[in-house]
Amino acid sequence: MTEQDFILKSYNSDIESGSVKWSSPSNIALVKYWGKKEHQIPENPSISFTLSDCKTITEVTYTKKNSSDFSFDVYFEGETNEAFKPKIQTFFERIEAYIPFLRDYHFIIETSNTFPHSSGIASSASGMSAIALCLMSIEQSLSVVTELSLSEVEASHNYFNNKASFLARLGSGSACRSIEGELVVWGKNDSTESSDLYGVKYQGDVHPNFDQYQDAILLVDKGEKQVSSTVGHKLMFGHPFAKERFSQAHENLAKLKAILATGDLKAFVKIVESEALTLHAMMMTSMPYFILMKPNTLEIINKIWEYRAENDSNICFTLDAGANVHVLFPKNEKEQVYKFIKSELVAYCQNGHYICDSVGEGAKRL
Ligand code: DP6
Repeated sequence: MTEQDFILKSYNSDIESGSVKWSSPSNIALVKYWGKKEHQIPENPSISFTLSDCKTITEVTYTKKNSSDFSFDVYFEGETNEAFKPKIQTFFERIEAYIPFLRDYHFIIETSNTFPHSSGIASSASGMSAIALCLMSIEQSLSVVTELSLSEVEASHNYFNNKASFLARLGSGSACRSIEGELVVWGKNDSTESSDLYGVKYQGDVHPNFDQYQDAILLVDKGEKQVSSTVGHKLMFGHPFAKERFSQAHENLAKLKAILATGDLKAFVKIVESEALTLHAMMMTSMPYFILMKPNTLEIINKIWEYRAENDSNICFTLDAGANVHVLFPKNEKEQVYKFIKSELVAYCQNGHYICDSVGEGAKRL
C-alpha cells in the first residue's frame, strides 16, 4: 500500500455527531527504532512486543461545526489539559490529507492511562495509536456503507488496521506498532513482511516459549525524559556509527526471526540486551552526548546478569530512551522472577514502584 491508498476520497457529510472509544496498548521494542528520515520514515526496521496492561483509553466525541480551523479540547484523567494540545495540533496537520473531515467537526478528546503518567513510561505510543484508532472509527461511521463480501470484509479490516497504524506513525513512530499484537514489525527489510508506512503483525512462526512473555517494568526514574525522542532521533543525523547501526538492525531482525521460530531463548537474550545497549551507546556517542541510564539502571542490569548465571534463567533486560528497565522473561519463570524482583530489585526502583505486564493482543474498541 502507498500513501495514496490512505486518502479518504469521499464521506457522508450529513452526520452531525457521534462518539467512539478505544483502548490501545504500549509496546516494547526488541530491535529498536532510533533514527528517522523525513515524514516519520524509520532509518531501520524495528520489532516489538505489544503489551497487555499498559494502555491508553481514549474517547473522541465529534460534533459538526462551521468554522474551517481545527477545533478540539483535550481532557486527561478528567481534567482539561493544555499541555497535550500542541502535539495533537501537529498530529492533525500531518494527517489532514488522509482524514479530510478533520476540519468539519469539533472534537472532545478524553484520555487516560492505566499506568501513572509520571512513571517515565512513554505514553506517546499508546496515546497516539488510541487517537488514530478513534479517528479511523469515525472515518468508518462517515463512510458510505455498501454490502461487502467476506473477502471484502477481511480486506477492509486490514485496511482499517493499516491506516490506523499509518496515522499513528505520523503522531509518533513507535505508535504504529501498537495497533495489533503480539509482535509487530515496522520498517522495510528483507526478512519479514513489512512497510515503512505502517506496522505489520509479525507473520513468521513463533515458538510457544514466547507465549505470554512477561515484562516487569522497573521504574528507576519517573521524571520527565532527559532527551525527547524527537531530539534523540535527530542525533542519528551525521552520527559516526549510524550506517553500521542501521545495518546491524537489519541483521538482528533476521537473526530474531530464526530465534522466534526455534524458541532459542539464550540467543533471544543476546539480541535483546545488545539492542538495548546499542541504543544507549548511540546516545553516548552522539554530539551532543547523553547518558540516560542512572546508577540504579546499572545495578539492576548487574543483578539480572548474576541471577541469570546462578539460576540458568532466561531473564533479560531491555531499555527505552530512559533509565527504566524492562525485565523480560518467559511465563514459566514468572513465580521465581517476581520473587527475585521483590527481594533484590525493588530497592533500586523509585519509591519501590514497578509494573507487571505481559505480551498482549493489541488495541480494542470499547
Ligand atoms: C527508544 O516513537 O517516541 O522507544 O517518532 O519521534 O515519536 P517519535 O519517536 P518515538 O521513539 C521511540 C524510540 C524507542 C525505541 C523503539 O520504541 O523502537
